[in-house]
Amino acid sequence: MSNRPIGIFDSGIGGTSIFKEIHALLPNENSIYLADSKNAPYGNKSEEDILQLSIKNTELLLRKKSKIIVVACNTATTNAIAYLRNNYDVPFIGIEPAIKPAALKTRTKAVGILATKGTLSSQLFHKTTDIYASDIEVIEQDGDGIVPLIESGKLHSDEMESLLKTYLKPMIDKNIDHLVLGCTHYPYLIPILKKLLPEKVTIIDSGLAVAKQTKNILTANNLLNQLETKEPYIKLYSNGNIDILKSIIDNEFEASYLDF
Ligand code: DGL
Repeated sequence: MSNRPIGIFDSGIGGTSIFKEIHALLPNENSIYLADSKNAPYGNKSEEDILQLSIKNTELLLRKKSKIIVVACNTATTNAIAYLRNNYDVPFIGIEPAIKPAALKTRTKAVGILATKGTLSSQLFHKTTDIYASDIEVIEQDGDGIVPLIESGKLHSDEMESLLKTYLKPMIDKNIDHLVLGCTHYPYLIPILKKLLPEKVTIIDSGLAVAKQTKNILTANNLLNQLETKEPYIKLYSNGNIDILKSIIDNEFEASYLDF
């Protein structure tokens, strides 16, 4: 057992959607979250840049004694997790677009995927799509512009709604019945997406699956915190606008600015 924290990072505030799932499932665990908002979005950066930023975040979380690292970013997972697993001693949990359940459940044989350019162009994403979705139509959409709007506090804005309308139209035209969210910022869009999508479209988000996997790996490695902590130590850091981070977590957890 270990009371060292779970380390979590994302290119910005989106990965808090994963942090919340982990905290709900493992309320006794201490956690540290890094929002690398200064460098967001990662989605349009080169594979090498995404790797270097992922290394920087990982090393900071390790200096803060993380016992496991959750890469709460599809873009960083699909471009960097293999390297991280090969080069650091702690277990890593990643997140990838959940193409498999969508491909298994679709009746219209058409599914939409909204993700960053970095995720859609990664080898890992192509491999997964080839294995699970070769007999269905996958309508890929680069969500260019969505992350910067969320990072600048414009989650609920006319700009966001019209951008989403443009991105969803080709998918709706192709009669999708599942939409896979391939970026950890996007679960915050679910209420807006539900308004814009036909009722039959199921939205697939892998946040809960990531939390369950984190629990499984902690259990398997005998790393769960079994000390009775009344209040777990939870700390979120951003190197960008701290008020926007605080508002997305409804001021429920301690958050502060850190230059990293
Ligand atoms: N939350 C990141 C992801 O899951 C956003 C990437 C970005 O910064 O573009 O991919």
